[in-house]
Amino acid sequence: MVIENDLRIMAKQYVPEGGSFADFEAPLFMAWQLNQECNIACLHCCEEAGHFMPDTLNSNEVANFCEQITTMKIPYVAISGGEPMLHKDFYKICEYFRKHNISLKVETNGLLITKEKAKWFGSLGFRSVQVSVDGATAEAHEKLRIKGKWQPTIDACKYLVEAGVTTEIVFVPTKFNIHETGQLIDMAHKMGIYGVYTGKTMRIGRAAENWDALCPTDAQYEEFFKVLKEKQASYEGRMKVYYYPYDVIEELKYRLEYPSASLLVIPNGKVKLIGPMPFLCGDLRKHTLAEIWERYKKSWKDPKVTAFAKKVIADPTMVAKANDWVELYN
Ligand SMILES: C[S@@+](CC[C@H](N)C(=O)[O-])C[C@H]1O[C@@H](n2cnc3c(N)ncnc32)[C@H](O)[C@@H]1O
Ligand code: SF4
Repeated sequence: MVIENDLRIMAKQYVPEGGSFADFEAPLFMAWQLNQECNIACLHCCEEAGHFMPDTLNSNEVANFCEQITTMKIPYVAISGGEPMLHKDFYKICEYFRKHNISLKVETNGLLITKEKAKWFGSLGFRSVQVSVDGATAEAHEKLRIKGKWQPTIDACKYLVEAGVTTEIVFVPTKFNIHETGQLIDMAHKMGIYGVYTGKTMRIGRAAENWDALCPTDAQYEEFFKVLKEKQASYEGRMKVYYYPYDVIEELKYRLEYPSASLLVIPNGKVKLIGPMPFLCGDLRKHTLAEIWERYKKSWKDPKVTAFAKKVIADPTMVAKANDWVELYN
């Protein structure tokens, strides 16, 4: 969801009218899931995060990948996880990208952000730091974000704002918290947040396992989008309220026709074609980044991909298979 928001924004910024992702010699955007570890265990986690992936890229491989990103002049990188701030090379990676003037966003649950860490973010000039806040109250947030504490998350946002960091909040709507959408947006504005981002919850990973307990009803979603529309209008020019109106299936239909100029790298260096499908189009341990980019372009035409996409569109519950990887190379 979050990545798709970025991709739409990037596409508007960089892709000329009538242009295609295939015209680009390098991706415009790199989404990198650094790790699979997490300090909490959200019921909706699309990455099923919580454990260390034993084949995670090692420090040398990480450094090599960073170098390839700068060599290919990829302008924008978003670092996520798991909880990326738990990765032992997190600080080094961020400092490297900023030294090479790459626009950088970090997606975090905020729990490791102290006043000092917030100052560090401030000193590096990040494009933004995106903190997940899943409620205007501790009750709603902590029901969904198991072991995640609401108050320290809010404090992290405040520290970031005080340190001059462009701070964004991401909110994932479920039955537990969707009624607090408007209240959260108002609270974010009072806190000096740059933007609030949301959209429908994806039926992937643990969200798929817990779908009946989590998925809002149609009536709840209708009210949610009504509130978002009103808040977007009332905060115009003061705070961004960005909501992505499509669900994961609508997104997939769109991407089949218009793949984005982006790559999604998972912790072991394999490269996914797109979040909601299981296909891997490359492996940093086997291919250079430039080769992977060419493989990515070709993979969208692979009959296995189009056949699977059609099946998912007919039966959206199949999105749950997105984390059962299928390699499109040997
Ligand atoms: C997987 S998390 C990783 C970064 C960090 N651990 C965090 O929670 O912000 C990245 C973003 O995806 C969101 N997310 C997780 N599961 C999701 C789902 N099923 N649908 C939509 N967004 C989801 C999280 O709330 C978070 O904003
Ligand atoms: S959504 Fe983020 S914080 Fe929650 S379990 Fe997944 S990786 Fe961890």
